[in-house]
Order: sequence, then C-alpha cells, then structure tokens
Amino acid sequence: MAFLGIDLGTTMLKLLLMDEEGKVLYTLTREYPIYYPRSGWAEQNPREWWEAAGAGIRELFMKAGLSPESVRAIGLSGQMHGLVLLDEHNKVLMPALLWCDQRTRAESDWINETVGFEHLKEWTGNKSFTGFTASKLLWVKAEQPEIYEKIRHILLPKDYIRLQLTGEYATDMSDASGTLLFDVAKREWSVDMLEKLGIDKAWLPRCYESTAVTGKLSLKAAAVTGLRAGTPVVGGAGDQECGAVANGAVVPGILSVALGNSGVVFACQDRYAADPELRLHSFCAANGKWHVMGVMLSAVSCIKWWSDNICRCKSIDEYEDLLGEAEVIAPGSGGVLFLPYLLGERTPHSDPHARGSFVGLDMTHHRGHMTRAIMEGVCFGLKDSLDIIRQLQIPVTAVRVSGGSGRSMLWRRILADVFSLPVDVTTVREGPAYGAAMLAAVGAQAFDDVTQACQALVGVVERVEPDKESGQNYLMMHELYKGLYPTLRENFAAKAKVFGG
Ligand code: XUL
Repeated sequence: MAFLGIDLGTTMLKLLLMDEEGKVLYTLTREYPIYYPRSGWAEQNPREWWEAAGAGIRELFMKAGLSPESVRAIGLSGQMHGLVLLDEHNKVLMPALLWCDQRTRAESDWINETVGFEHLKEWTGNKSFTGFTASKLLWVKAEQPEIYEKIRHILLPKDYIRLQLTGEYATDMSDASGTLLFDVAKREWSVDMLEKLGIDKAWLPRCYESTAVTGKLSLKAAAVTGLRAGTPVVGGAGDQECGAVANGAVVPGILSVALGNSGVVFACQDRYAADPELRLHSFCAANGKWHVMGVMLSAVSCIKWWSDNICRCKSIDEYEDLLGEAEVIAPGSGGVLFLPYLLGERTPHSDPHARGSFVGLDMTHHRGHMTRAIMEGVCFGLKDSLDIIRQLQIPVTAVRVSGGSGRSMLWRRILADVFSLPVDVTTVREGPAYGAAMLAAVGAQAFDDVTQACQALVGVVERVEPDKESGQNYLMMHELYKGLYPTLRENFAAKAKVFGG
C-alpha cells in the first residue's frame, strides 16, 4: 500500500510515493514554464499543470515498477494564492495569475484602504498583499471585464489538479486562508468580505480540513493516470503548510524555516491569534489549528540570480566555487550589505516596488564578499520575521530548516548565527510533496492524526549550534540592514515610476 503526494510547485510538479512506514518509494519531477508577459507579471497555464500531472503519474509508476492500484489515498500540495478562473464548462478563462505576480498594487491598496484594517483583521485575520487572490479578482474585473463576466468557478492552483482528478470543486482551509476571502478564525468563507468585494460565493470551492476526503478519483482521471477509480483524494494544504508538516512543525515551539526560491518563517499556534498589526500572515493549519508566517518573495532565488545572470556560472562546479569563495569570508562580508528584494517584498515591508541593492562596497571587496552578503541579506530578511514572532511572544524552542538550500552547511551556519539559535535538519528531505503524502496517510487512517504522523515519521538528524561572536557581529549588521529599506523606500517608488515594475 502506498500514498501519493502531488506538489504543484512554481517551477515544477513533484510526485512522491510513500509507503505506510513513511519510506519514500519513488519521486518524479516535471517542469512547466512560467510566463512573464510584463515586468512584475507572472502567469502559468493550468492545462500545462494537468498535462504534467496526468502524464507524470503514469511515468512515476512505470519507473517505480509499482502498480498504480497500490495507492490508498492521494494528497495535494501547491503554490498558494494563485487565481484559476473557469467558465460554466470548466474551460480555463485566462492564464493563472501566480503568487509572485505584482500587477495588483492598485487593487491591493484599494482593499487595504476601503475595506480597512479593522474589518480585514476581523473578517480574515490578514491584510491584502499584491500576491493574494482577492486583489487579482478585482484586477480581472477592472482590466478584463469580458472575462470576469464569464467566471463560474474560482480555484487555487492545486485545486485545479483536484478538479481533474475527482470532478470536485474543493480546497482546504490552509490554502483558502491565502485568498483573503476566508475567515481564518472561523474556518469558513467570509461572507462579509465576499459581500464587500462583490464576489459570488457560488464561484468558490467547498472548503475541507487537510486530512478530509474531498472526492474520489473519477473514471476519466483513472484512464489518464492509470490510478484506481475511486481512490480518495484528501484536502491537502498550501505548499508552506505541507512543507511545515514534512518538517514536523505542527506543535508550538518549533519554528520552521523554508529556504527555497521564496523564504518562509513559520510558527504553529494552538489557538487562533493573528498578529495585531497584520505584518505576519495568519492561516489555518493542517491539524485543525493555526499558524503565523512571514514570507520573503526572493530567498535562494537571489543566489540563483547572482550565479546565473551576473557571475554566469555554467556548471554545478562553478556554482560551488562561488559558494566556496563566500565561505572563507568572515561573517559580515567586510561590511557589504545586500537587500534581497529582487521581486519586491512581502514581509515585513509589503512593497512591490522594493528592489535588490548592494550597499557598502569598496575597492577591497570581491565576488566572495558579495556572494556572502547575499546569503546574509536573505537571513537578515528571515530574521525580520523571527523578530516579529518574538515580539508576539510566540515560543521558539527549536528551528528546523528545509527547502532546496536547507541542506547546505554554509546556509545553515549563517542562519544559526544570524538567528543566534541552533538550527536543525530533519530526516525528511522531500518537502511539501512528502507532507502531502503524510496528509493522505492520515486521511486513510494509517495514523491517528497529523501530530502522530509527524512523531512517527519526522526526526532531527543534525544540529548547527550558533557561534556567539558571529551572532554579536550579525546583530549589529542586522540593525544596519533594517535602516536601509526606510531610507530607500522613496527611491524605489520613484524608480518604479520611471522604469515601471
Ligand atoms: C506563501 C507563498 C509562496 C508560494 C509559493 O505565502 O506565497 O511560498 O506558496 O511557493
């Protein structure tokens, strides 16, 4: 018997087969393009997602040498906040607008100003960010009214895959939380918010807990994928929540940090308690509880940009040499600071116009200083979220890092020193796809609940202790870093007026 986790990421789809003991039997990835039709816009074609998933599932079982009939349940994870619009025949009306799309500044500001801080807090527990779904809908209404008129269904990205698998319009509470149309405290769509924005509730999917069965695999999907018709599909969760489950971060005290393209600092809560200033997102968790999180739009993607576009690294070896040059530089990068706002920033600035910047360069600096400054800048950005979590007196007893670069010793060392906290990595290397398979396993009653699944399947394998002296140095550098954005904010806005973006 096996469980299938499907993670619809931003750059690729990941499929993961797990057995009842939590052993990973096979994984497979399939890429699909992101389209950037204008500066700040980011789109994907939902049909390309389903092509990747349908054909990928067949290939997975062929390569794994397993019968697709062995799958007991399926769990879904996916990039959050995206907008998929369907007409009455389930035809995709326009490309999906992604979480990192920044075109909705005006609509997002309108929501924050017109709905107002107090109502947003009461009705949703969150404020509007350009990436969130609600402002995307208002943008379509204003800019593409002929499309808006045809809307009959609104889905989040992973739930388009669910529709293809089961024929059901459904989502889960964690992903619904990131739409800004959801009452996170009450775990239901916010009628007040829908009314205020003039959105028809009938367009929205039904909302389930992450481990609840939302539908069964249809005959049509069985023919495409080779899976058994009738296989249950559970709610699953947004990729950050699935990643946190795979990191065992389902109880208060464990802080989960995801070092992927985006950077996330995530803390669980036993009861609903949104950040009173709404700097952090406050979302439902997969175990029936809640979490707060801070999200950086570019984390490891800053290093990718640096190595690909600027240093022109052509191979893994060249990339590793680049990181090697950073490793021998002392903490503080000789006074060079980097602001990692290549795509604008969400937490803590909520500013789509913010941009990446190096500050403090002199004649003594070389590539190694700048590479290290980028890594330190990303960790300072994560520390901004940690500081808010601390201000809210949310307990932090351990930090668990995951994501593409979570295994890198250099990243972990810098993170531990910037946070002045020990940083752990766990037995689970596979991230959100594994979390989705765990949720499927809980849904199929292989475990009592999400917490028990985490206790059984996720353990700590390695810890990096913080270095006291580096920590002191970083405390000072972080203060300097924090001073830069307020100084540059107006320049970023002025630059956006001239160059767009
Ligand atoms: C979370 C967020 C991103 C996306 C893409 O709020 O916007 O992490 O889910 O992974």
